[in-house]
Amino acid sequence: MRIAVLGTGHMGRTLGIAFIGAGHDVVFGSRDPGQATDLPAPAFGHVEAIAGSDVVVSALAAAHSLATLTLLRESLADRVLIDIGNAVDQHMDLIYPDASLGERLQQALPDTRVVKTLNTLGGPIGVNPTLLSAPTNVFLSGDDDAAKGVVAGLLTDLGWAVDRQVDLGGIATAKAVEHYFLLFAALIGALRTPMFNIAITR
Ligand SMILES: NC(=O)c1ccc[n+]([C@@H]2O[C@H](COP(=O)([O-])OP(=O)(O)OC[C@H]3O[C@@H](n4cnc5c(N)ncnc54)[C@H](OP(=O)(O)O)[C@@H]3O)[C@@H](O)[C@H]2O)c1
Repeated sequence: MRIAVLGTGHMGRTLGIAFIGAGHDVVFGSRDPGQATDLPAPAFGHVEAIAGSDVVVSALAAAHSLATLTLLRESLADRVLIDIGNAVDQHMDLIYPDASLGERLQQALPDTRVVKTLNTLGGPIGVNPTLLSAPTNVFLSGDDDAAKGVVAGLLTDLGWAVDRQVDLGGIATAKAVEHYFLLFAALIGALRTPMFNIAITR
């Protein structure tokens, strides 16, 4: 599968390396592809990176994702867009306190199939869940079941067993996982490490 990863920061690189390791064809999209050095795959402008891709991953700084991706509406039409963002401001307050970045993206990009995932855990765990001592969970939200199926397959490639993937429902449920960021940040402060995750037991 050809995957366009938008954003060449920590998460973009982490996911890009992991998808390449899983056998996928990765390209990066950057505001300044010439300056994006030592990447594990070629970098292009956003539009060029998206062209020819099967799936687009937004690993953009979350506060700027909505504005940036809205400008890419035509390029993103008919694409599966994975949104991993936690949109908070410099005070770590939610930018969309009554909604979510995922839902806003789906509203702004009606011809794109937005799937929210991988925002409830640190990047290293997201691409290697066996880093933790016990099985944990990852979540998916999205209105399009086929798109969620594609993303579930990619999560499986990253090491997430199918029974550890929780389909929360439509993109409106992205609010639940995005608002969890407040607890996630508090837990990092309390535990002094990002190496933990949610495990659902019943
Ligand atoms: N860090 C984590 O462990 C973690 C875990 C789960 C989810 N997330 C989410 O993953 C996303 C990426 O995280 P990160 O730590 O890699 O973020 P980051 O380093 O702050 O930014 C990622 C990339 O976004 C692009 N960018 C920065 N400012 C921009 C602007 N004003 N307009 C457009 N693009 C801009 C840059 O890529 P270019 O310079 O190539 O354009 C930058 O490298 C965020 O949405 C975050 O909430 C992070």
